[in-house]
Amino acid sequence: MSPLTGVLSDLDRVLLSADEIRARVTQMAQQIETDYDGKVITVVVLMDGALFFVSDLLRQIDLPIRLVTLGASSYHGGTQSSGQVKINWPAGVDFAGHDILLLDDILDTGLTLAALRERLLAENPATLRTAVLLDKKRPREHEVPLDYCGFEIEDLFVVGYGMDYQGRFRNLPCIGILKP
Ligand code: IMP
Ligand code: MG
Repeated sequence: MSPLTGVLSDLDRVLLSADEIRARVTQMAQQIETDYDGKVITVVVLMDGALFFVSDLLRQIDLPIRLVTLGASSYHGGTQSSGQVKINWPAGVDFAGHDILLLDDILDTGLTLAALRERLLAENPATLRTAVLLDKKRPREHEVPLDYCGFEIEDLFVVGYGMDYQGRFRNLPCIGILKP
């Protein structure tokens, strides 16, 4: 594999290496597999940030899974949240009575996941749990109960492993902080 020295050169520092992410995602998959034993999981994924997380996670879960992808945005290309969530709700998906696992890349203000949870709960699922790879340690404007969390990180803007800055850096294999 290419060492991606071009895109990596934009990083000030690496916060989580590809190996650290891989090991933690494997642990999370094992935990989820144990918790959902005997069930079918309806995984609802927020695209595009959770793309690599969901891909690596789900391929290690030995249970039947229904995959639903959603688009939701509160960021509009910058590093500050706009305070509003736009959800592209999928047509024709049945959530009632299903065991839903909501997945996102990172919990920041909580606005996105809180809005999504509320919308999903209105569909009367049997259960609703939430998993994120990263949990930013910061005052939370919207409380979101987390059932699975990969890492707690400082309140910094991160890129890589699916997460972008103005549409770039999603393809970094690690998670890092951009140069100022
Ligand atoms: P929240 O609604 O403020 O919790 O923001 C959640 C969404 O904002 C996540 O799904 C990410 O797509 C994006 N986001 C939040 N923090 C970061 C970051 O540090 N880097 C890249 N995207 C982020
Ligand atoms: Mg996102």
